[in-house]
Amino acid sequence: MSGSNKFGHIQLAPPDPILGTAVAYNKDPHPNKVNLGVGAYRTNEGKPLIFQAVREAERALIEDPAVNHEYLGIDGHEGFVRLARELLLGADSPAIAEHRVASSQGISGTGSLRIGAEFLSVYLHPPCVLISEPTWGNHITIFEKVNVPVKKYPYWKLETRGIDLDGMLAALNEAPAGSVVLLHSCAHNPTGVDPTHEQWERIFEVILARDLLAFFDSAYQGFATGDLEADAWAIRSFISRGGQCLVSQSFAKNAGLYGERIGALHIVCTDSDTTERVLSQLKIVVRAMYSNPPLHGALIMAKILGDPALRENWQNELRGVAHRIIDMRRALYEGLIKLGIAGDWTHITSQIGMFSYTGLTPAQCEVMINKWHCYMLKNGRISMTGINTHNVEYVAAAIKDSLESA
Ligand SMILES: Cc1ncc(COP(=O)(O)O)c(C=O)c1O
Repeated sequence: MSGSNKFGHIQLAPPDPILGTAVAYNKDPHPNKVNLGVGAYRTNEGKPLIFQAVREAERALIEDPAVNHEYLGIDGHEGFVRLARELLLGADSPAIAEHRVASSQGISGTGSLRIGAEFLSVYLHPPCVLISEPTWGNHITIFEKVNVPVKKYPYWKLETRGIDLDGMLAALNEAPAGSVVLLHSCAHNPTGVDPTHEQWERIFEVILARDLLAFFDSAYQGFATGDLEADAWAIRSFISRGGQCLVSQSFAKNAGLYGERIGALHIVCTDSDTTERVLSQLKIVVRAMYSNPPLHGALIMAKILGDPALRENWQNELRGVAHRIIDMRRALYEGLIKLGIAGDWTHITSQIGMFSYTGLTPAQCEVMINKWHCYMLKNGRISMTGINTHNVEYVAAAIKDSLESA
């Protein structure tokens, strides 16, 4: 090796807390270990799920002589983008009919957030983005990467293990003019606490009155309640009030297409002329970042969403997935009560989506991990998909013991 060490000054980065949990789980030989850190669905047997509709779509694609591996356009697969937008906003959405939505395929939810953040940074120069405290950690990094200052709004209230609406509204009321507000459209990660319809309306009133810009993160449509329409309610309601917004959309969780990186970014504008200009500039952002998106996931989702039988099959299976999680919430709650655990644990069943914010302290989480081999985040977040009928009693016992011994 010749010359100076060009990279010698680089510090070792801390491991990603979520992905680090998976590594530690995989290394542990303990027979009763449980992965409560996993951000991907697991069946009752603890296995990854491939939706039947995905399998059928893939089979059909292999046989289809019209399918090739050419590049997609910068903004992705036209059929996929159209159907994904309709799934999110409703096929009868006036914003769609009025050509007021600039949409581009994105690299799953993360990539869609990233191109949205970059677009805002370049074209709107917002004074800051307001992000819920707590949130999915990558939200912060994504906006930091594009030099948009990150501020937090209170979201979680430990005493009630519910939403801190007053704190949130106060922060929105004080936000600098032109701020962006990042909102989880359903199944808030990590808390599992969503605003009620009335609470959403109060949030929207402030955003609209203060002329802030909403950016919805839709990573769990259909996964929260099992109903794709119900889980899109907040976004549709905001748009029906005349709100302009960005929405990042992911098919990682609701179609089990984690590794295919399929999603979209939608920017809802005031008129079709603005929309055309917005899309043209969004394409410049994409072109310089990754040129054009991957094809396979787009073909799968276009096939499923465009074929009534496959679509119904997918929706039915998705409903089953959401309900297995809801059932596990109830089973865990009942397991805790049966063991006579102290305190109110009703948040386990009232929280929604993939995650539950248990309220366990970092020290109690250490006991969960080190003594009970139940791998979870140190902020107390557990993934409900890691729980099944075989391990739910074990997890309940682990929680009770951690609570009592730390
Ligand atoms: C709130 C939230 N947003 C976005 C994502 C992005 O997921 P993906 O990039 O896999 O679609 C996740 C994944 O866990 C998430 O929890």
